[in-house]
Amino acid sequence: MKKPAKRRQPPCSAGLAAEMDPRQAALDQLARRVARCTRCAELARTRTQTVFGVGNPYAKLVFCGEAPGADEDRQGEPFVGRAGQLLNDILTKGMKIRREDIYILNILRCRPPGNRTPLPVEATACREFLDGQLAIIQPKFICCLGAVAAQNLLGSDASIGRLRGRVHDLNGVKVVCTYHPAYLLRNPAAKRPVWDDIQLLMAEMKK
Ligand code: URA
Repeated sequence: MKKPAKRRQPPCSAGLAAEMDPRQAALDQLARRVARCTRCAELARTRTQTVFGVGNPYAKLVFCGEAPGADEDRQGEPFVGRAGQLLNDILTKGMKIRREDIYILNILRCRPPGNRTPLPVEATACREFLDGQLAIIQPKFICCLGAVAAQNLLGSDASIGRLRGRVHDLNGVKVVCTYHPAYLLRNPAAKRPVWDDIQLLMAEMKK
């Protein structure tokens, strides 16, 4: 893949301090609001910290997961546990891109206790922040990891098996859905369809 980060960096310099970069400043401001959020009482009470998102504010490609797990809740960064290691492998070994070139976020910014599935009311409460991040980053492509990400982002109740394998349009953004890396860890046979989806994504990005 070509280098998306370079084309989409701010015009002045790659090494801008965060406070001088308008997109990073906007993300930082939103992250401060998220850190104070108590919309979901149970999540606000049980979280160690909010997990906003990480990566290049000028990324052409955003990966969207479900919600922070225990490792993410502890470290404050999405996809840093075992599933995150697998995502890193998909990025670096499969797509030949660096984690720093993309942006990674989740449907929820707080860990659901016991890693339960996010409630629809929680996804709705957090949607403003997801939409806010996407509005700042303005990605051209989004890759949804798992059913929760795909269904919530696309507003669909179709299964991940039905949503994967094709390119969706979300207000001009091309969306590819695939199985969640955690599912892949439990079901190595899903490696093939995930790789097919990643190749579909890469082909779209080359067009
Ligand atoms: N699973 C997710 O969906 N998101 C994370 O950040 C970590 C694990």
